[in-house]
Amino acid sequence: MLHLLNHPLAAHILTRLRDQATPPETFRNLTRQISLLLALEATRDLATESRDICTPLEKTSARVLARPLAIVPILRAGLGMVEPFTDLFPDVSVGYVGLERDHLTAVARNYYRKLPPLAGRRVLVLDPMLATGGSAVQTLDVLRAEGATELALVCIVSAPEGVRAVEAAHPAVPIFTAALDRELNASKYILPGLGDFGDRLYGT
Ligand code: PRP
Ligand code: URA
Repeated sequence: MLHLLNHPLAAHILTRLRDQATPPETFRNLTRQISLLLALEATRDLATESRDICTPLEKTSARVLARPLAIVPILRAGLGMVEPFTDLFPDVSVGYVGLERDHLTAVARNYYRKLPPLAGRRVLVLDPMLATGGSAVQTLDVLRAEGATELALVCIVSAPEGVRAVEAAHPAVPIFTAALDRELNASKYILPGLGDFGDRLYGT
């Protein structure tokens, strides 16, 4: 269920995101750009239905999106991915899950949650980094418990360890990612990765 974004522009943007010389302002812009590409990829199979409309010339039957969409960014870094989704899908509902990894154990602690109704919607979880998979699995657990049945995970950089963890806990959840990196280091950071996404996004 791993979908790797395969586009030359995605590779170009990713390289600039990885470069430690890229400043936060540019990093935020690049995050928006690559999230737009991921948004298109992760919604490729959305259901549509027909609607009768009038063009200036005649009546015709055309396609519109059939069901509402929800996105759930994982705070804080996931916030950087929200705007392209709300631009493309103005009717989207946005929920929030706040998680922070402990710097020593790399185990994520939940500090915030605010969710819209999830039943009957495609729910996309947005988190740029899938490292151990702890944050993603915890969030998917919460969303399932809240009634979500159609879930997907959208990441920018993933580690094999994180992909395995999500696949083990939520085998039916597709993962859309722009890169599958080599491994985690001893501090559970992704290699080669791009460092701490939240810090680079917000200049902390
Ligand atoms: C980062 C990242 C993910 C998480 C991934 O967040 O944005 O949420 O780590 O790691 P995992 O797969 O091992 O759980 P972090 O906890 O650093 O918080 P932040 O977004 O507030 O910087
Ligand atoms: N979170 C990050 O921001 N970067 C990593 O490499 C791992 C987790």
